[in-house]
Amino acid sequence: MIKVEHLYKDYSESIKVLKDVSFTFEDGKTYAIIGSSGGGKSTFIRCLNMLEVPTGGVIEVDGEIINQGKVNLSKVREKMGMVFQNFNLFDHMDAKKNVAYALMKVKKMSEKEAYEKAIRGLENVGLGHRVDSYPHQLSGGEKQRVAIARALAMEPEVLLCDEPTSALDPEMTTEVLKVLKNLSHTGLTMIVVTHEMNFAKEVADYILYMDKGEIAECSTPEEFFSHAKTERARQFVANML
Ligand SMILES: Nc1ncnc2c1ncn2[C@@H]1O[C@H](COP(=O)(O)OP(=O)(O)OP(=O)(O)O)[C@@H](O)[C@H]1O
Ligand SMILES: [Mg+2]
Repeated sequence: MIKVEHLYKDYSESIKVLKDVSFTFEDGKTYAIIGSSGGGKSTFIRCLNMLEVPTGGVIEVDGEIINQGKVNLSKVREKMGMVFQNFNLFDHMDAKKNVAYALMKVKKMSEKEAYEKAIRGLENVGLGHRVDSYPHQLSGGEKQRVAIARALAMEPEVLLCDEPTSALDPEMTTEVLKVLKNLSHTGLTMIVVTHEMNFAKEVADYILYMDKGEIAECSTPEEFFSHAKTERARQFVANML
């Protein structure tokens, strides 16, 4: 469980982004974070695994406060895989090594075990035929699926995704969203910043609508798209159509 209380993030005296955000993410659920550009979605999701250090407030993961005192952040990040808009693959490693690398370095697996696991993981995202390819030989959708396989190989409890499909064309978007949709039934907790309203509608258990550095609303997709609780969310939905 991830519990956030009174979270603030200022980048500077004049750039105050997160303003007193409190929210609890339940285990095993899929959350779509949506909202207008600049509302603080990336800042928020990056705070959850301390890629950004909050200015104030508390983030608790499985009962442990991760933004105060001495915390082993690499251990925390092992529980929380992250997938980025621009894939962030290692360009000089082929697909299977991209996935296997942290298994060897962090999980101390043998090379044989790590590569076997990596290949199984790549097969699970439909890339069994691409395990020897380097990132520059892969399409955007394939790269993103390698990145997902890499995150999942660490067996995280939570998968954080920041606009995993916004660098992709529609066809590749579909491939990647299909993988995420399948994952949403596996008990993994998923927190996905997305502009894909159909994904949010179909796959998310909850929609978090962020506006001006606040979580303005949390609703089920059904509620959110048909009768959002807040006026600003209703405006946002109206503008989407
Ligand atoms: N490293 C940074 N330094 C200074 N300001 C930043 C930094 N990162 C983000 N910001 C500012 O914080 C605000 C929120 O940015 P953020 O990236 O969290 O928004 P977002 O909701 O993810 O937007 P988008 O939908 O465009 O990705 C923006 O005004 C942005 O310019
Ligand atoms: Mg963003």
